[in-house]
Amino acid sequence: MAVEIKDLSYTYNIKSPFEKRALDNISLTVDDGDFFGIIGHTGSGKSTLIMHLNALTRVQKKKKQNPTAVLNVCGIDLACKKPDLKGVREKVGMVFQYPEYQLFADTVKGDVAFGPKNLKLEQEEIDRRVREAITLVGLNYNEVAERSPFDLSGGQKRRVAIAGVIAMRPELLILDEPTAGLDPQGKKEILALLHSIKRTCPTVIMVSHNMDEVAECCNKVAVMGEGKIMGVFTPQELFSKRDLIKSLGLELPTVTELALELDESGLDVPPNVLNENDLIEEIERAIDKKAKQV
Ligand SMILES: Nc1ncnc2c1ncn2[C@@H]1O[C@H](COP(=O)(O)OP(=O)(O)OP(=O)(O)O)[C@@H](O)[C@H]1O
Ligand SMILES: [Mg+2]
Repeated sequence: MAVEIKDLSYTYNIKSPFEKRALDNISLTVDDGDFFGIIGHTGSGKSTLIMHLNALTRVQKKKKQNPTAVLNVCGIDLACKKPDLKGVREKVGMVFQYPEYQLFADTVKGDVAFGPKNLKLEQEEIDRRVREAITLVGLNYNEVAERSPFDLSGGQKRRVAIAGVIAMRPELLILDEPTAGLDPQGKKEILALLHSIKRTCPTVIMVSHNMDEVAECCNKVAVMGEGKIMGVFTPQELFSKRDLIKSLGLELPTVTELALELDESGLDVPPNVLNENDLIEEIERAIDKKAKQV
């Protein structure tokens, strides 16, 4: 399995007036091949949890906070005293919130090459990976390679930043809110990119408030609340729990919302549809059925 977590807790500012228990006895498994979603209220601990997965945040002293904690990521034990940090940074690719703020090079090509260069790969292999990653994120290599990343649109910048992580070919790719703060066009571009990622990256974990991307991409979704895992669901299960979605302050996926409205207005469309193509099929079926009845 890609990730195994047992009994993991984390407290910020221990023994200060600002003490905050951000993770409270978390247990969770992510299997190889999963596109695993994590959703939950602001402050529920999502970022704290994923920052443990590439050891940016270290497991707190085991005896006191986490007497029985287990944290294995891509075969690396991160709960031991001296974890293999180099190994985990190579295997786990992390795309932070607003990753475009971390762009720095003069050219798109130079920015995407930064990670592979650090892996000390041969120049030919670096060039190959850079070209591949830029293409995979939906940009035209010949058009953008020599341009400054700062001249691109918001959605394009973000895709360059994601390409830099993909070029490292991580075993596990982690995305924290990949569409946050983008305009509708930028969101659409990233959603298309998530579909390419789904085809090419072995295992993906994605934190998201955007239920469209969760419905379209994830095969499992963990719901977090106050530092705990409140449940792990398939998207079908999750989006049939309307009260839970509402209590988290989230919206249903656009497609599911539309299916519900059609159902309520008398067209016989099942309300648990999760993607556009299925909805179109269901509408056609319902219209056919109605036509036969007349
Ligand atoms: N560096 C920090 N110092 C102190 N407290 C922190 C720190 N980072 C996070 N916290 C607190 O820990 C809790 C969990 O925060 P975290 O950022 O993991 O939540 P989140 O689910 O990622 O939220 P969001 O949806 O807003 O990104 C919150 O109460 C937060 O205020
Ligand atoms: Mg966060």
